[in-house]
Amino acid sequence: MCGIVGYIGHNEAYPILIKGLKRLEYRGYDSAGVALINNDGGLNVYKAKGKVADLESYCEDKDKTGSAGIAHTRWATHGEPNSANAHPHYSASGRLALIHNGIIENYMTLKENLVERGIVFKSVTDTEVLVQLIEHIMLSNNIELLEAVQVALHQVIGAYAIAILDRNHPDTIVCARQSSPLVVGLGKEGDYYLGSDASPIAEYTDRVIYLNDGDIAVMRLGEELKVVNMDNETQHPKVKQIDITLGQLEKGGYPYFMIKEIFEQPACMRDCMRGRINVDADRITLSAVIDYRERLVTARRIIIVACGTSWHAGLIGKQLIESMCRIPVEVEYASEFRYRDPVIMPDDVVIAISQSGETADTLAAIELARQAGAFVFGVCNAIGASIPRQTQTGVYIHVGPEIGVASTKAFTGQVTVLSMLALSIAREKKTIDDETYKHMVAELTLIPDKMEEALKTNEQIERLASIFTYAKNCLYLGRGYNYPVALEGALKLKEISYIHAEGYPAAEMKHGPIALIDSEMPVFVIATRDKLYEKIISNIQEVRARGGRVTALVTRGDTQIQQFADHVIELPDTQECFQPLIASIPLQLLAYHIAVCKGKDVDRPRNLAKSVTVE
Ligand code: F6R
Repeated sequence: MCGIVGYIGHNEAYPILIKGLKRLEYRGYDSAGVALINNDGGLNVYKAKGKVADLESYCEDKDKTGSAGIAHTRWATHGEPNSANAHPHYSASGRLALIHNGIIENYMTLKENLVERGIVFKSVTDTEVLVQLIEHIMLSNNIELLEAVQVALHQVIGAYAIAILDRNHPDTIVCARQSSPLVVGLGKEGDYYLGSDASPIAEYTDRVIYLNDGDIAVMRLGEELKVVNMDNETQHPKVKQIDITLGQLEKGGYPYFMIKEIFEQPACMRDCMRGRINVDADRITLSAVIDYRERLVTARRIIIVACGTSWHAGLIGKQLIESMCRIPVEVEYASEFRYRDPVIMPDDVVIAISQSGETADTLAAIELARQAGAFVFGVCNAIGASIPRQTQTGVYIHVGPEIGVASTKAFTGQVTVLSMLALSIAREKKTIDDETYKHMVAELTLIPDKMEEALKTNEQIERLASIFTYAKNCLYLGRGYNYPVALEGALKLKEISYIHAEGYPAAEMKHGPIALIDSEMPVFVIATRDKLYEKIISNIQEVRARGGRVTALVTRGDTQIQQFADHVIELPDTQECFQPLIASIPLQLLAYHIAVCKGKDVDRPRNLAKSVTVE
């Protein structure tokens, strides 16, 4: 959701900024813009509605020189996506240009004050208020940019990551962060890079600083980075080494990131387990469980908070933890939890699950839990993001950057971590016997190979996909561990193909949704062999009796379901609790191929953002 790139150094800024914007395209956006201080000291701002490629076309005949610049992809919140509302925004005199991620909540009040002072606004965004306010403070107090930013931010309520160029200081970018991520890259020879995450920076430097809330940074060419807060107190954020390869940021021969990421899952899962499961595959070691053993083992209740796909992973986590550890688990939408006045007790453990580590609702839920004295544990992918920094401990899923907007490998990574976590706590609590524990750990290590088997269904699914292209609605049914898989399968289809889809617990169908079933309604049933197998067969019969078209995911060798399903997709067998790691793969592939058949932009579905940093 919105992307920030900045550069100040010895090279031409424009190509670096455009490349950086392209690296951030996955976050979702609807317009883009760039500001450059050219070699004559002029400050040029170019903006376009649409994709970064549209911005490039617009800039073709423009002056793009200059070695200082900021650039932005905007995901509209205040005001429609058009070039006037796109960032950067000029200040009234044209001296400053500013880009912003986040939302300024009190922008109306601030704007009214500025309008009364004669300042004319050119957009309807909350962002423009910031640049006008900062310049107004600068000019009326005759102070420099940093001080004006400090004064202005004292008046601002909301979330922001901002970067500002000042025509009078072409060697400097000033940036600030509050509840919206910002990463400064330290280049060789005193060059600076800026990004809303590390992906636009990673190919230039592996030394980065993740700014903290309240930090204001001054990037001045050739000088050490200066970081202060609003009260001008010096801050000392740490320099971190990042480990992102170019290959991880590129498509590697696949047509879309999503399909690349689907196929990466076996390798990602091996990475996720590496160093955590020993070579004999009989023991899991999670440092967070060792360090906080007492807190986890004595938890009276676990509350999982998350959004979207991560929430679906949480539903699987609930079943894993309850069955293995015998600790009651509640799974909450972070967006509801934060406003619901929930009962949170000091002996609760709150597990926050998030791929990006920046989801605003999940961050707010964490804050609420912390205030209530609960112990907060993070399950996150993006290294150094806000969630891992605001939780007491946690486990990274280590699946590498996920660029496709529809989450795939992060989901299976989250389920893998939750499986390891449940097994580790269960062992410490002695709610699982040694033999079962070892057997399950060994099975978990076999899952990457079984995922490879599941990926072999790709061609069959590609052929099937064309049949469903014209569906208006689809139903996904599952039971037990496969119920969240049904929810996740339906979400994937909705997100990228724009076909309405519902995930339902199969037995609930007869309490309402069964009325929808007719020959026009494709029904996808996850019917792998587990303790509810016979029950789900009855559910399939109920669909068939009403003319529904059934595609069933079955365990390899199943001959029973073949007799009455229209299509079957065979999957390798595994333990029931690990089935979601296998069964989610064909549903990801199905959503992907249907969307491709429909000619949709799979990696950048309309209206969606990868990192939802506003509530
Ligand atoms: C679905 C998807 C979203 C995210 C949700 C939470 O494919 O990607 O539903 O799962 O926005 O995001 P994170 O996990 O980054 O907190």
